[in-house]
Amino acid sequence: MERGRTLGIVGESGSGKSVTSLAIMGLHRTSTTKRGGTTVSGTIRLDGEDLVSASPGRVRTLRGSKMAMIFQDPLTALHPFYTVGAQISEAYRVHNRVSKQVARKRAIDLLRRVGIPQPTVRVDDYPHQFSGGMRQRAMIAMALSCDPELLIADEPTTALDVTVQAQILDLIMDLQSEFGSAVIIITHDLGVVAEVSDDVLVMYAGRVAETGSAADVFRQPGHPYAWGLLGSMPRLDVARVDRLRPIRGTPPSLINVPSGCPFHPRCGYPEQVGGDRCQTEVPLLRETGPAHRVACHLTRAKQQEIWKQLAPGSAAKPGATAEPGADGDAAPAATAEPGQDVTGVEAS
Ligand SMILES: Nc1ncnc2c1ncn2[C@@H]1O[C@H](COP(=O)(O)OP(=O)(O)O)[C@@H](O)[C@H]1O
Ligand code: SF4
Ligand SMILES: [Mg+2]
Repeated sequence: MERGRTLGIVGESGSGKSVTSLAIMGLHRTSTTKRGGTTVSGTIRLDGEDLVSASPGRVRTLRGSKMAMIFQDPLTALHPFYTVGAQISEAYRVHNRVSKQVARKRAIDLLRRVGIPQPTVRVDDYPHQFSGGMRQRAMIAMALSCDPELLIADEPTTALDVTVQAQILDLIMDLQSEFGSAVIIITHDLGVVAEVSDDVLVMYAGRVAETGSAADVFRQPGHPYAWGLLGSMPRLDVARVDRLRPIRGTPPSLINVPSGCPFHPRCGYPEQVGGDRCQTEVPLLRETGPAHRVACHLTRAKQQEIWKQLAPGSAAKPGATAEPGADGDAAPAATAEPGQDVTGVEAS
């Protein structure tokens, strides 16, 4: 992540998006506690400093000041017993030695900045007196109170009405250009990603399936899972010749990740790879273009050839390898035999 850039992380529910961002924020209960907990391994670097090996105290200092997170449901993230202003002021005072009055003034400024009307009055409201959109604005104000370098927004618009969603996204993008933070937007909504992201990371079963610039991932996706996500998204810019194609099956439990490529039980292309590689060998992320990486055993040439046939608006029939369902329903593009579970990916 670089300052001023926006990364969109996409993947179905259960692909590990929230867990990954909680790990960055150091919000997991670690396994040193008696009741058990999470083991976080690897490295997470913020401005060169490793967060995994840093002490909990150090991570607490960084959290809020250098990195902040906006959660999906602002009603559960805000405390019902304290006023909105008190909560924003506290977030500010934890990291800055200022008086209550100064912090309150800062809270009012921030509420104004995120578009809350009459902030000098509303600062004393409780969360239940705010609408859903206002609560999300208040959360954003709290996250921005210390000018974080990294802002993670985990499904920030999922709980909101469509019209409010657009306003909140606009707000996050406006504030990003003003504050210059690096922003990670986590979503299952490809429409949101297409609108706001510079870079895209497609996540599956807790791993990166594909990553690259938004232009590359949308125009030249190389991973069958990305094809599946794109094939299930309605598009207004191309003539629709087929039904939307859902991805068959559901994401795996991350306690029992499938062997080899975790996507293989749902993928329609293992035979194009040949042998049992997809079932036995974990595909590594490979560079398929400048800053564009894909974790799939298919050769780049093969990926390009298949996507040419699948791309929305292409003349070729979708589902290069899989048969249409018995009921004459949509041809599954990135999938194996038609299963019973069909998980569509919501898109705007
Ligand atoms: N890296 C991981 N290791 C082990 N389990 C994981 C990992 N990532 C996610 N999980 C499990 O998968 C579940 C769903 O992950 P979550 O991050 O909530 O998905 P998403 O936000 O993409 O819907 C989590 O509750 C957790 O049990
Ligand atoms: S072709 Fe094989 S490696 Fe590529 S996504 Fe499908 S199962 Fe995974
Ligand atoms: Mg989540």
